[in-house]
Amino acid sequence: MPKPRFAVLGAGSIGCHLGGHLAAAGHDVAFIGRPAAMDVLRERGLTLSASFRPSVHLAPDRLTAADGPEAAAGADYVLVTVKSAGTEAAARDLAPRLAPGAVVVSFQNGLRNTAVLRAALPGHTVLAGMVPYNVVRSGPGTVHQGMPGRLMTEPDDLLGAAFRAAGLAIEARTDMSEVQHAKLLMNLNNAINALSGLPLREQLGRRAYRRCLALCQREALAVYRAAGVVPARLGPAAPGVTPYVLGLSDPLFRRVAAATLRIDAHARSSMWEDLRRGRPTEIDSLQGEIVALAAAHGRTAPANARLVALVHEAEAAPRTWSGPELYAELRAAG
Ligand SMILES: NC(=O)c1ccc[n+]([C@@H]2O[C@H](COP(=O)([O-])OP(=O)(O)OC[C@H]3O[C@@H](n4cnc5c(N)ncnc54)[C@H](OP(=O)(O)O)[C@@H]3O)[C@@H](O)[C@H]2O)c1
Repeated sequence: MPKPRFAVLGAGSIGCHLGGHLAAAGHDVAFIGRPAAMDVLRERGLTLSASFRPSVHLAPDRLTAADGPEAAAGADYVLVTVKSAGTEAAARDLAPRLAPGAVVVSFQNGLRNTAVLRAALPGHTVLAGMVPYNVVRSGPGTVHQGMPGRLMTEPDDLLGAAFRAAGLAIEARTDMSEVQHAKLLMNLNNAINALSGLPLREQLGRRAYRRCLALCQREALAVYRAAGVVPARLGPAAPGVTPYVLGLSDPLFRRVAAATLRIDAHARSSMWEDLRRGRPTEIDSLQGEIVALAAAHGRTAPANARLVALVHEAEAAPRTWSGPELYAELRAAG
């Protein structure tokens, strides 16, 4: 049977990581991204690095870099890896071009992207996916995976086999909505990490920042209860227990959550990268989603709402917050 052909719409950190591994395994992958990013792939190729496995380099002649969505026409699977604010435009780009039977897979964070794609692409299967680890551009043409982890998608045997053969662990899940709600709880740290200006490991090693995350998660869990949402258990601790663990002293946290801190020393959230590059962030699809869900159920989520405001302020005028400063700010909001 011929190998399925892939296109990646939004070839940034996650798109280059996923598409790069598939290309290295011999799949035909069309990388669709902004012209400047595609020029880098054409000139330097793509290096996939990680601290826990050897780097892989794909020379330019092993890559198909495309500036426009036309390149999606030949794909059996289109992986959507734009930030959430770009999903509607990405769907509009894809709608007239997808091959009949092409399957679209969203590997984005947030709760609404799959629904947006499904609404815009009737007649196509759209699968929800989830990337549980951190990937950043660590240099021109290099994407770095900060920790190991297992991708998750709605079941699709061919897709699962392709990723496994490419060396990426993947799990088929029938509860992706619960998975996405659980992932959102973790992603509430993206804003805190971005405002801290610190690498993730250092930021999560400091109790004051973890208490900020615990405040956000407690609000989110209360809102989920009101909405009847039961988030999946993705890590060693049940979602309801995590805020307590986050509040432990630094030495205790280091012992209890050793696996959580096994992050590459340089890894940071993609929101930090967005702020640094002066790009809009995904805050409205993360903390903003909790605020909206709270409002829909007659509740408030003040710490999350304050973080939405602080990140929008940082988009306009970057500043960093110490842990105690940020914790005091979020507490004052409640
Ligand atoms: N990075 C991570 O560690 C990580 C981990 C798990 C999940 N995620 C999720 O994965 C998604 C992608 O994140 P990312 O960090 O990979 O973002 P990213 O590095 O910004 O990559 C997205 C790329 O797509 C480009 N793009 C947007 N719309 C496009 C279009 N219509 N056509 C062509 N290119 C387009 C963007 O360009 P512009 O910037 O010019 O718009 C950007 O270069 C997000 O939902 C994120 O939350 C990320």
